[in-house]
Amino acid sequence: MEQPLSARYGEPVDLPGASTAVLDLLLAHRSVRGYRPEPLPDGCLERLVAAAQSASTSSNLQTYSIVAVADPERKAAVAAISGNQDLIRQAPVFLCFCADLSRLAFAAERQDTGSEALDYLEMFLMSALDAALAAQNLAVAAESLGLGICYVGGARSQPLALAELLKLPPRVFVVFGLALGWPAEPGIVKGRLPQNEVLHRETYDDAGRPERLAHYDELSRAGYAAQGRAELPGWLHHSAERIAGAAALGPRATLRQTLEALGFPLQ
Ligand SMILES: Cc1cc2nc3c(=O)[nH]c(=O)nc-3n(C[C@H](O)[C@H](O)[C@H](O)COP(=O)(O)O)c2cc1C
Repeated sequence: MEQPLSARYGEPVDLPGASTAVLDLLLAHRSVRGYRPEPLPDGCLERLVAAAQSASTSSNLQTYSIVAVADPERKAAVAAISGNQDLIRQAPVFLCFCADLSRLAFAAERQDTGSEALDYLEMFLMSALDAALAAQNLAVAAESLGLGICYVGGARSQPLALAELLKLPPRVFVVFGLALGWPAEPGIVKGRLPQNEVLHRETYDDAGRPERLAHYDELSRAGYAAQGRAELPGWLHHSAERIAGAAALGPRATLRQTLEALGFPLQ
């Protein structure tokens, strides 16, 4: 039985082939929601951002920016409008990953080409993907240094207020935040879906889904029970609740209008 693989799936797994330090690091990922107050060492953030910038990016357009918030007062203000999550206050740095089309608008103006394509949903999606890929590179690099991270979709709770706080220009939108710092506790590896639920060979095949998801639901509940949190619902219940109605999205239900106000018409 391979320990990191088995921990990831919450049950014994063995696979042929070799593991590597990078694979083991990826398999050991866990979100960190409690941080020690020490700042990052000099040069650390810049090294991590170099790793982020090394991610693939659509057509090398690099349509994202990162606003690093370390000032405690500003962090507290960000936390207050991001679902009031304490982990944002605790982490020495909170990185706001932005879809950023403002640089391309500048290029178009400089080259006098027009920039109609910026108004299309495709460009918003491209910039959100660019931001996510950069963030995940940064996250893995951070974990390789013993740092912890937690993505924060709560940063989309009040996008207009956050844009104002961070002084974002038009065509820039915080897609998500990323808390970064030294973990106060080791955290727990959360089991993932059985692999044959996400990996399809040649064509999509959802035969066996009811059994697979029932099994995963049981595993997820057993995982919580082992942590002394038996009151938490399994994956099916938790996931269904998240999509039961628009109310479950809170203020994010009006994202389309908000994006338009921030300079993304999404044609
Ligand atoms: C885009 C995104 C947004 C997230 N937003 C939050 C958040 O606002 N608060 C939080 O505590 N965790 C957040 N998470 C962390 C997820 O809850 C976590 O990744 C998931 O439960 C799996 O757990 P793990 O990362 O420990 O494996 C977010 C993750 C992603 C990818």
